[in-house]
Amino acid sequence: MSKATAVANPNIALIKYWGKIDGTLNLPANPSVSMNLAALTTVTTVELRPGLQVDTVTIDGKPAVGEAFDRVLRHLDRARVRTGNTSKALVVSRNDFPAGTGLASSASAFAALSLAVAAAVGLDLDEQAISRFARLGSGSACRSVPAGFSLWEGDTDESSYARQVAKPDHWDLVDVVAIVAYDHKVIGSQDGHALAPSSPLHQARLDAVPGWLDKVLGGIRERDLAAMGPVVEREALAMHGVMMTSMPSLLYWTAGTVAVLQSVQAWRRGGLAVYFTLDAGPNVHCLCELRDAPKVERRLWELPDVKDVLVSRVGGGARLVDFHLF
Ligand code: DP6
Repeated sequence: MSKATAVANPNIALIKYWGKIDGTLNLPANPSVSMNLAALTTVTTVELRPGLQVDTVTIDGKPAVGEAFDRVLRHLDRARVRTGNTSKALVVSRNDFPAGTGLASSASAFAALSLAVAAAVGLDLDEQAISRFARLGSGSACRSVPAGFSLWEGDTDESSYARQVAKPDHWDLVDVVAIVAYDHKVIGSQDGHALAPSSPLHQARLDAVPGWLDKVLGGIRERDLAAMGPVVEREALAMHGVMMTSMPSLLYWTAGTVAVLQSVQAWRRGGLAVYFTLDAGPNVHCLCELRDAPKVERRLWELPDVKDVLVSRVGGGARLVDFHLF
């Protein structure tokens, strides 16, 4: 097969990956755990074509340029050197979620690309190997490879990959995402990771993560949002504390972010079981059980700063499909 198509979902981390011990291999400073987001998908077709003069990458209908193009190229090369296949490639990728929302498109992008290019060049890799390979493209992408809830740990190239800790149907957890800004970030997560050690709070967060990780894994295992939620919130705030106190400071929040964070905490005081987390951006992920999702969604729409609301259940893993985008 020289042409293959894969689908992957982005994921939301419940314990975050922030800071790297190796920026080339994307080895994380701490283990992380996440859930895949079923409602959001990336589809990517890769074809290796002998005789083609250059690699071509199209993302959401536009030719990829600059760093986005170079990152895909480096990933294609990683697959090509393993097989000796020197053919140039056509890559077409499509996201079904709004661009510029910071919804971790690099995670689904590199999970789908890894599976598609491995199949296209004829590499026979199991889930663990695909997760390791995806990690080289973007760290968080390794967590989008297994289905459901994933744990990413390991501090060497061989041992650093994500594995499933619970299947998608294990727990009807829902991520209700409040979009408060569409703007592209000034500093993306790739550059942000490198700033983490400049924060005096970085080591304190790393010291706290093992205890938090245990609680979150226990919460997933027992389907216990009341046990897990406060830890998820605290850890996200700790990561943003590191970001805000880095040199230079990374302040991703807007007034709308703060309004949502305060509303979530007020709703909880009123008895609604909802907890927030945030990635490297201003939008707020509100976690609740399926039965509470319509109420959380309705309340978010009532906030003046909320521009859009996306609702997602737990998603599957990266998978090959039998249709192509070209
Ligand atoms: C804040 O995976 O985007 O979303 O490995 O450099 O591609 P690279 O970074 P990336 O970092 C994600 C950071 C985060 C937290 C998380 O998803 O764990």
